[in-house]
Amino acid sequence: MLSAADNELMTRVGPGTPVGELMRQYWLPALMSIELPGPDSDPVRVRLLGEDLIAFRDTDGNVGLIDNFCPHRRASMFFGRNEECGLRCVYHGWKFDVNGDCVDMPSEPAESNFKDKVKITAYKAQERNGIIWAYMGTRTELPALPDIEPNMLPDDAEQSLWTAVRDCNWVQALEGDIDTSHLGFLHLGSLKAENLAPGSFDYYTVRERTPLGYDVVDTEYGTSYGAWRTTDTDDIYWRVAHYLAPFYTMIPTSVLGVQVLVRAWVPIDDTHTMFWNICGVNPFAGGIGTGKKGQTLAGAATDVDYVPNTSDWLGRWRLEANASNDYKIDREAQKTNKIYTGISGIHLQDQALTETMGAITDRENEHLGASDSMVIKTRQSIIRAARDFQEGIVPATVDHPELYQERSGGTILPKGQGWLEATKELRKAFVDRPELVGTDKGKKG
Ligand code: FES
Ligand SMILES: [Fe+2]
Repeated sequence: MLSAADNELMTRVGPGTPVGELMRQYWLPALMSIELPGPDSDPVRVRLLGEDLIAFRDTDGNVGLIDNFCPHRRASMFFGRNEECGLRCVYHGWKFDVNGDCVDMPSEPAESNFKDKVKITAYKAQERNGIIWAYMGTRTELPALPDIEPNMLPDDAEQSLWTAVRDCNWVQALEGDIDTSHLGFLHLGSLKAENLAPGSFDYYTVRERTPLGYDVVDTEYGTSYGAWRTTDTDDIYWRVAHYLAPFYTMIPTSVLGVQVLVRAWVPIDDTHTMFWNICGVNPFAGGIGTGKKGQTLAGAATDVDYVPNTSDWLGRWRLEANASNDYKIDREAQKTNKIYTGISGIHLQDQALTETMGAITDRENEHLGASDSMVIKTRQSIIRAARDFQEGIVPATVDHPELYQERSGGTILPKGQGWLEATKELRKAFVDRPELVGTDKGKKG
């Protein structure tokens, strides 16, 4: 359990809140590059950390992210004309560039210099591999983008990038990724070990649905866990995964050493989160949670079906199956154990269970067990970072992008070896290890 005060501290992200201000120190994935498809394309409503912003791409292709409200008489910039390197408010024609400077003020006398004194709030934006990143902090000397490996692959590399809104608080959504014990139930509950390839990771997971133990540690970037199960020999099967400040996870869907997958849970506001799946795809890194099209062992596609984006503040990347239709639960499939939950697809299963805890779950009434140790440590890490930041301590991850050069995944280690030390090399990002491809014995089950 967590006190109501700590829950409040951890979950609130608006301007002036401890976690909100902390997150403003980092670059944030704000929208997909394709949402602003070309020069002078339509402006988009984007809510980020509780702030309503308008994103636009100017004539030169640069991205602007400005306050929704025009500083003149507070009309919405969403209706603006995106023309000649600026967004022009259609109320009285004031025009702002991507830096927030007022470049035209046709409603004032020509000799007036009033326009030089007016600015609109504008946040810095930059693009890398399909993601528009935003910086909402106050520094003039900006930090570097984090070394998120799948967002830094060469142009010709295969990659999978997708995003989906989740209607709950960001911590609750993120906790699903670090709660390893739900895998054998929520996602793989209908599988039987005898139908899986002996020696495969999924075989071990289903044979021993609950890990025999967890080891959870604080790290320079956040927290990590190793969860272990027995194998058919003396060796141990370890699932290794991470939380990286302020809102990233690396989950263990594939082989440690070759899996390139980072997920982000970016707060839209206190009760909505934008999920990002940033995945470097290689032929064996597919499977659960990667967003790769195809069937998983859970019997359902990993990808999700969307309804068309709307211009609503919360209208981007919404799923067709949602709380209003009970995530299209198929009770027959549940009854016959075709799908343990009756809900189709890994992502949707997680979505259904985390959203329906309530917008911000009541953590005073939880009963956390040994299997929740990663969740507990990660909450402590978030709360500590927020408190430290109030004392002026900036987390190392803000100014050390290399701290994100990590990988997660499953691996087999000899009994008696400490997983953290033994996986040190395997956890390093930006290393090619073709010899490890397929060492989870394939997903042939
Ligand atoms: S309110 Fe925008 S120009 Fe007047
Ligand atoms: Fe899950």
